[in-house]
Amino acid sequence: MEPLRDSWGREIKSVRISVTDKCNFRCTYCMPAEGLEWLGRDEILSFEEITRLVRVLARLGVEEVRLTGGEPLVRRDLPVLVEMLAGVDGVDDLSLTTNGVLLDRFAEPLVEAGLKRLNVSLDSLNHVRFAEITRRDALDAVLRGLEEAERYPELRPIKVNCVAVKGFTETEVPALAELARRKPYVVRFIEFMPLDADEAWREDDVLTGGEIRAIIEDRYGPLEELPAKASSTARRFRFADGAGELGFVNPVSEPFCSTCDRIRLTADGQLRTCLFSRREWDLKQPLRDGASDDELVELLRFAVRHKELKHRINDPGFVRASRSMSQIGG
Ligand code: 5AD
Ligand code: SF4
Repeated sequence: MEPLRDSWGREIKSVRISVTDKCNFRCTYCMPAEGLEWLGRDEILSFEEITRLVRVLARLGVEEVRLTGGEPLVRRDLPVLVEMLAGVDGVDDLSLTTNGVLLDRFAEPLVEAGLKRLNVSLDSLNHVRFAEITRRDALDAVLRGLEEAERYPELRPIKVNCVAVKGFTETEVPALAELARRKPYVVRFIEFMPLDADEAWREDDVLTGGEIRAIIEDRYGPLEELPAKASSTARRFRFADGAGELGFVNPVSEPFCSTCDRIRLTADGQLRTCLFSRREWDLKQPLRDGASDDELVELLRFAVRHKELKHRINDPGFVRASRSMSQIGG
C-alpha cells in the first residue's frame, strides 16, 4: 500500500499514543498544580479501538509505536494493550514513556507483554528539587522503578528524559551526567517547550542543549558526537572515555521538524499531526460509527496531508497549541 506521506514529502513512520490524560504527578512544565478536568471513561479509546487504528497505521507503513499519557501506567491493565500491540504485524518498535513511579510494579508484566524500550522522566536526583518540579515527593519510587527496569535486558536502551528549565536544571546537570556514566541509561535533556498548562513558558525559560553541553564539557572535557538516525529528535554524545551516553533534544534552539516522521493520537481519539497543532482530526467517532478500514485509511491520509511544515515557537505571534502536554501525549 502507498505509504502515509504529508504534503512536504515526509513519510510517517511513528505514532505516539496517549492512553490516558490522567497523571499522578503535576510537573510544573506540564500540568497545573490542581484542577484539570479528566476525560470521561467513554470518551477514551478502548484497547480494541487503539489496536484497530494501529493495525491500519501499520499497513500504511508506520513501524514505531510509543505509548504515553498523562501517565500511561495509571491506565488499568496497560500490559494487556502492550501485548495486543506487540502482536500487530509491522510494528517493530514498541516503547513507553512514563514518569516511572509505578514502574517497580509494572516492569515485569510489561516486558512479558512484549515492550521493547522505555523512556523515564527524571528531572533531578535531589529529593527537594525533584519534589519542587514534579510537585510530588516520589524520587525514591522512580529510582526503584528504574532499578527494576534495569533487571530486564529485553528493555534497552533505557532512556532518562530531563526537561531542561533555565534557573532550575543547571544545578541538576552534574548528577544527571554522572547517572549516565554510572548506569546503562541514556540521559537526555529536552528543551522546555510552550506546552505547560500554566502558560508560564517564556523564551528565557529555555535552557538550551548547547548551554547544558557546555556545563558538562567544563567538567568532563569535550563530548564526542555519535551518529543518529535521520528522523531522530536527539543529538547523541558520549564522554571522551567512552563511559555513558547523553542526548540533547533541542526543539527550540535546533528545530528538527524537517525530518519529523511522527503523528499523535490523543486518549480521546483525536489525531494530531504536530505537538503544536491547532487542529485535530476526530478518529473516535468514525471508529464508533463503524467506519471500514478503507475509510479510516482515507481519513488518515487526508489528515496527514495537512501536517504542519514546522512549529513556530520562535516566530513573533506564535500561538500555543489547543491543549497542554498531559492532554496531548509527549
Ligand atoms: N516541554 C518539554 N518537554 C515536556 N514534557 C512534558 N512537558 C514538557 C514541556 N513543556 C516531557 C516530559 C516527558 C515527555 C512525555 O514530555 O518530561 O519526558
Ligand atoms: Fe505527568 Fe508526565 Fe506531565 Fe509530569 S510531564 S505531569 S509526569 S504527564
